[in-house]
Amino acid sequence: MKQLKAWGTDLKVWNNIKSNLNSARVYFLELLIFDLSIAVLTILIFGRIEFSLVLIILLLILSIILLNFLGKKRKSELNEIKQIMNNIRKNFYSFPEEIKLSKNLSNLQEGIKLMFEKTKSDIEDLTRLQKVRSEFLANVSHELRTPIFAIQGYIETLLNGAMNDENVNKYFLEKANQHTLNLNNLLNDLIDISMIESGEMRMSFRYFKIDEYIKILVNEFLPAAKEKDIELVYEAVNPNLQLFGDKERLRQVMVNLIQNAIKYTEKGKIEIKVEEEQKFGKIIIRDTGIGIPQEDLSRIFERFYRVDKARSRAIGGTGLGLAIVKHIIEAHGSKVEVESQIDVGSQFSFRLKK
Ligand SMILES: Nc1ncnc2c1ncn2[C@@H]1O[C@H](COP(=O)(O)OP(=O)(O)OP(=O)(O)O)[C@@H](O)[C@H]1O
Ligand SMILES: [Mg+2]
Repeated sequence: MKQLKAWGTDLKVWNNIKSNLNSARVYFLELLIFDLSIAVLTILIFGRIEFSLVLIILLLILSIILLNFLGKKRKSELNEIKQIMNNIRKNFYSFPEEIKLSKNLSNLQEGIKLMFEKTKSDIEDLTRLQKVRSEFLANVSHELRTPIFAIQGYIETLLNGAMNDENVNKYFLEKANQHTLNLNNLLNDLIDISMIESGEMRMSFRYFKIDEYIKILVNEFLPAAKEKDIELVYEAVNPNLQLFGDKERLRQVMVNLIQNAIKYTEKGKIEIKVEEEQKFGKIIIRDTGIGIPQEDLSRIFERFYRVDKARSRAIGGTGLGLAIVKHIIEAHGSKVEVESQIDVGSQFSFRLKK
């Protein structure tokens, strides 16, 4: 029995050595070349084969002992790395600081930490994107459903008899028509958003005279402002001031901002002006409207975000306007700034290069 136990221990030791040597086999060739070179050198120096043979055997024994040590060290290092990899795979770590390797692997430890951080942030980005995408899809479906249901309702009412009632039939048709217009606006905005976000929107930047450009725009909105009894004023700027941008896309920005100002203002005035700075022209649209609560200011540029959903939808808003504005201004290397105070008014502004 004792004998068996001893054999078992011997076998274990032998297996251990075998696995150490196996792990160190990458160094085997170098050591062999070193041993043979020493042997050849001793033959050349001493001219005695027997002496070299003894030396070779000694060197080989020493090499095997050395390989055993090297292999043992390499095996434990590899095991350590394997363990860390396994832990990462099993989501064992929450922070990179938790990844710890022994001192001699500190270089690798930094590399693994960086890789862990990168993978973690990539996964977080993907999860966030997935969430944004599904929220977007849910919003789109909801927004599409609203006008479609309304149109369906008006048509059904007409078909159920209202068609022959001259007091209401025109009214229902006009309502249905208004909703098809809203639907069309929504689809156009959606196409814009998806083009901008997929990078398909081509911008064509040029210098243009900002004064003339804004004058034309403001004239287009005078009737809408007049209808609401709001003043719409433009403070003329140096007529020769040229700013750099995509006129067509900036038109979309200005239309959205002026439309918003008119939509969300019940009394007072809307002022548009351009302030000339050293390197930029700052375009400002200011209203004396309902204002935006402080806590909503950072969110109004999100897709479909509306401070007062019911109110905005009732006046035909999709909540995509400012998201498009933000994208377009960012594509100009600039950003939209907003200041607002409830019941006092709001001011939107952005800078364009001179
Ligand atoms: N000048 C403003 N005054 C007060 N609130 C505003 C103003 N501009 C924007 N908002 C608020 O920000 C929200 C988002 O504006 P945005 O232009 O994106 O959407 P919208 O005007 O509702 O719809 P649309 O897509 O048709 O422009 C609005 O619903 C409104 O609540
Ligand atoms: Mg808007």
